[in-house]
Amino acid sequence: MNHQLSNLSPLAPPSCSVLHGDCREVLKGKGPFDLVITSPPYNAGKDYDGYHDTIPESEYWELIQDVAELTFSECRGGAYAAWNVPLWWGKRPKKYRPDRFRATIESEGWEFRDEIIWVKGRNLEGAQCGGYAMNHPHTPSIRNPYEPILIFLKPGQPKAKYDLTIEEWAKETIGMWMIPPNGNDHPCSFPERLSDKIIQLYSDRGETVCDPFAGSGTVGRSASKLGRKFIGAEISPEYFAMCEGALAEQYLL
Ligand SMILES: C[S@@+](CC[C@H](N)C(=O)[O-])C[C@H]1O[C@@H](n2cnc3c(N)ncnc32)[C@H](O)[C@@H]1O
Repeated sequence: MNHQLSNLSPLAPPSCSVLHGDCREVLKGKGPFDLVITSPPYNAGKDYDGYHDTIPESEYWELIQDVAELTFSECRGGAYAAWNVPLWWGKRPKKYRPDRFRATIESEGWEFRDEIIWVKGRNLEGAQCGGYAMNHPHTPSIRNPYEPILIFLKPGQPKAKYDLTIEEWAKETIGMWMIPPNGNDHPCSFPERLSDKIIQLYSDRGETVCDPFAGSGTVGRSASKLGRKFIGAEISPEYFAMCEGALAEQYLL
């Protein structure tokens, strides 16, 4: 069965909801979830409303660990989790981060399954010069127009998925997705096309998708559009309102 997007009508509340507060508190007991899609704060000094994006490393890893633990206990067996994570922290030394995310999330019982590379485009020319200085053009600094998406499975039998044809499935399971970023008023939102693709590969209609760091509500919009239920959490009052607005707009389409 291939569900055409045009045949789907968005689900009405409360099938799609965002909760205001720390996900570690507000999502407790809200399962079972069938899929988690999330992009945590990167601890990179982003200018978020109401959330301080430069916290001590130990506190940061505690947050990631807590969310991995919470989502593990709220997901059914055979559910997937997709984490969009940063590649690097800092410059000298550059700390490679996907390995630390993987180890932290695995330590809560998740099984690491795959990595998808989200290529945002080659649009970095001109923005910076990659370390080229007039007198010292000898220290190249590589810019990476891509980010990893780490895929985990909660041990158990995954359920069948029906959204994609065999041709689409063959195409989407190649682990490099070229999707240009698209902006809204949130400083770090990701494009809806990205969450659409993850939802179609890793869940089925009627299932529940959770985003513990909901931001502007990208995952919620995708989920609702594709006939899934959604539950998210957002700590910032401003982004919570943005997310609620985005979900409400979806029902009115
Ligand atoms: C990278 S952004 C997510 C953006 C989202 N994917 C989108 O497309 O809009 C991370 C979000 O997590 C929120 N946040 C940080 N700590 C949180 C927590 N403990 N619980 C819930 N939300 C949190 C931040 O306010 C920020 O909006």
